[in-house]
Amino acid sequence: MTIIAPSILAADFSKLGQEIADIEKAGADWIHVDVMDGHFVPNLSFGPAVISSVRNATALAFDVHLMISQPERYIADYAAAGADRITVHLEACTHLHRTLHQIKDLGLPAGVAINPATPISLLEPVLEDVDLVLIMTVNPGFGGQSFIPYSLEKLRELRQRLTARGLSGVHVQVDGGINASTASLVRQAGANVLVAGSYVFGNESPSAAISSLR
Ligand code: DX5
Ligand code: ZN
Repeated sequence: MTIIAPSILAADFSKLGQEIADIEKAGADWIHVDVMDGHFVPNLSFGPAVISSVRNATALAFDVHLMISQPERYIADYAAAGADRITVHLEACTHLHRTLHQIKDLGLPAGVAINPATPISLLEPVLEDVDLVLIMTVNPGFGGQSFIPYSLEKLRELRQRLTARGLSGVHVQVDGGINASTASLVRQAGANVLVAGSYVFGNESPSAAISSLR
């Protein structure tokens, strides 16, 4: 079953709690929270206080994607704010193995994300340690960008490596430029968790948009 995780980066921030409640009604499975620090990526978004302020808007999982430098500094804060799973960028971690275990020691599933130019091979040493791998299908920082086609080769390679290692239970997530047409491509290539921001929140029928991604 494909998991659909709308990104609240594309939501109306003036009524964020209501937007989250509405997207749950529209059929979302997870709520994807794009955290940006203006350093690892050229944009700023949500601090832990914002996340805790909307935590009670839904019972859906908060899938927190930390696009921040030195994420080890904030993992406990996002966990306390209500994160149900936390993903960090390989490129942002000096000690990735330690940081992933910092998340798991808090009792949360740990994810690792890689940017478009980062090869799958760099993930090999941590594939046994993660619950999820996020392949960025745009350069991180902004919603509404175009899907990078080379992502499909990375998806296929990742699925092959996971299957060969007996790790087919690891979630393979994509994020950026996901719409009805790219969704079918990424599903065929091995993705089972799809993040979509502008396609869902910008749609006159978010429920139809979510259904079209499955
Ligand atoms: C990083 C963000 C975006 C966002 C999805 O830039 O992670 O990818 O979630 O944006 P859309 O779905 O609008 O491309
Ligand atoms: Zn994201």
